[in-house]
Amino acid sequence: MIELSNLSRNYSMADSNVSVLSQLNLSVQSTERVAIVGPSGSGKTTLLLILTGLESPSDGTVQVARQTLTDMSPDQRADLRRKHIGIVFQSFHLIPTLTARENVALPLEIGGQRNSRKQALAMLDKVGLATRASHYPAQLSGGEQQRVAIARALVHEPELIVADEPTGNLDEKTGDRIMQLLFELNRDQGTTLLLVTHDHKLAAHCDRTLQLENGQLHEIDAASGARTQTTS
Ligand SMILES: Nc1ncnc2c1ncn2[C@@H]1O[C@H](COP(=O)(O)OP(=O)(O)OP(=O)(O)O)[C@@H](O)[C@H]1O
Ligand SMILES: [Mg+2]
Repeated sequence: MIELSNLSRNYSMADSNVSVLSQLNLSVQSTERVAIVGPSGSGKTTLLLILTGLESPSDGTVQVARQTLTDMSPDQRADLRRKHIGIVFQSFHLIPTLTARENVALPLEIGGQRNSRKQALAMLDKVGLATRASHYPAQLSGGEQQRVAIARALVHEPELIVADEPTGNLDEKTGDRIMQLLFELNRDQGTTLLLVTHDHKLAAHCDRTLQLENGQLHEIDAASGARTQTTS
């Protein structure tokens, strides 16, 4: 489902060159559940933006859903995201002028699906927000906005869900509910999960935990944090 080879990403600043990802490799099979951990600033969000084609690497190749993103135009990458990937951003990227329900319905409407409003409401119900459907993002708490963003990422039943701290703003009970929802999709629909998280419980539910360190991924034991392999 995901194949990253020799991926590097540098940012050139006025007085320095920051190397965030350095010859990173990652291979994720279809239906696999992978957690990515690492300290703040280690490049986790950068990695997700590159593997969803929202940013380009400085070097290396990105393959997702059997297609090589690094050979595609921005429009082709957007099309691939629409069809195959559900993305939960760290900063939720909800559209402020649309209600919760309209935000969730948007990916379906762009895809030309009928019944989008009904499906959007059903998905909001799954994240516990049916009663907030007509609220605008500014009228929702941080955790509620996060759940709307999750509903929007899941509503078109993507093959791959990429989520940046999906439970980061949630209390334990609500976080558990979201976790259950993600793993249900994995079990029932074979959805591949790539989750950036500081939540040990969430990581422990995954098949593998990878730590991003010095621009590369290393497999670790989710419980102890000890390194189990040198490469991913
Ligand atoms: N557009 C940019 N220009 C310059 N530097 C950037 C840019 N985007 C990110 N960086 C730098 O790249 C590094 C990695 O950032 P990134 O957002 O990927 O970290 P992260 O692991 O997601 O951190 P967090 O856990 O805090 O979300 C940071 O040091 C950041 O300052
Ligand atoms: Mg981040």
